Amino acid sequence: MKRFLHYTRQTVNEADIAAVVQVLRSDYLTTGPVVNAFENALASEVQADFTIACSSGTAALHLTALALGLGPGDKVIVPTVTFAATANGARFTGADVIFADVDPDTGLMRPSDMEAAIARSPTLPRAVYPVHLGGQPCDMTAINTIAGQWGMSVVEDAAHALGTAYNEEGVTARVGGCTQSDMTIFSFHPAKTVAMGEGGAVTTNDEGLAGRVREYRTHGIVRDNFKNGATDDPWYYEMQRLGFNYRVSDIHCALGLSQLSRLGASVRKREQLVLEYDTALSELAPVIRPTKRVPSDITGWHLYQVLIDFEAAGLSRAELINRLHENGIDTQVHYIPVHSQPYYEQSKTPPMPGAEAFYQRCLSLPLFAGMEEDDVLRVVENLKAALL
Ligand SMILES: Cc1ncc(COP(=O)(O)O)c(C=O)c1O
Repeated sequence: MKRFLHYTRQTVNEADIAAVVQVLRSDYLTTGPVVNAFENALASEVQADFTIACSSGTAALHLTALALGLGPGDKVIVPTVTFAATANGARFTGADVIFADVDPDTGLMRPSDMEAAIARSPTLPRAVYPVHLGGQPCDMTAINTIAGQWGMSVVEDAAHALGTAYNEEGVTARVGGCTQSDMTIFSFHPAKTVAMGEGGAVTTNDEGLAGRVREYRTHGIVRDNFKNGATDDPWYYEMQRLGFNYRVSDIHCALGLSQLSRLGASVRKREQLVLEYDTALSELAPVIRPTKRVPSDITGWHLYQVLIDFEAAGLSRAELINRLHENGIDTQVHYIPVHSQPYYEQSKTPPMPGAEAFYQRCLSLPLFAGMEEDDVLRVVENLKAALL
């Protein structure tokens, strides 16, 4: 019996387990030294000045919106091909989401899509949230230039893109280093390259933003710069904003820290699997093609997405997904355009032809560091049997 191939799966080894057990035997289960150690390791990995770990990628998105001071009446631009959380993070503050279209062949928001969204917005948007779908980077230099022209903030949703680096005029820029943005968020959900169970982080080079993210993470409480006057009382703290409990625990960070130490190997393994897929799938073109590749120095692949011409193949996507599933292969659709979700009907988004063309054809095939070439070949054989 062949093993069931999930579309993605965490890879947990004995060192990860030992790291978690060590925390369980320690004095701190939450907000102890391991949270700091994880934040420092992530900051040095992505080359950011400040890293704030939190309870999920969704919490990280909400924290960025709070730190930017977004609220009712504000507009933010979000590509419609993403997970709902990208839009929700800003929406939680009462801001309105202006959805942007995407490239039909990559699923990424193009600079022209952003400009069209700005033109459609009733007031000048305060921020844009580009999403590095599947691990491929958006054109951040162009997006940041447009944002600068309009005085907008830029927050990269890099939930899929830990390990990715784009090229800025010959210089390798790590996603998370915020060279073309104000902040970046990551997710450490088990589906992602580094798993914590649940977890997320915000990175930034802006001390003021970092401070606000940190305060909002823990109830809006501060332990210095008191508004009620200086004091030597050791127990004293002040709640200066309405914050949340978005803390992450030492238990989660122990797993994250251990996993982070293998990030390079995990990214290389995924790159190798992507090349194997590309080669094996080439004989199925043009019915099935990988998403178009965009320039990057390193791609921290999270998803292996293909675009399928279901009409030419003569079967529906549901039929294909069910047939693969019967043969022990899990696939997913990333994503139903968020503007078409009933909740976001209020956004009154016009037709998004790029997003629609991407959505109609896309399918994510299994990709995780624990896969081997044989698994890739098995997926491709099954696709061939179903489609040709
Ligand atoms: C693009 C994107 N942004 C944000 C999130 C939210 O992350 P989390 O599940 O850690 O809240 C996800 C999670 O799937 C995602 O895929």
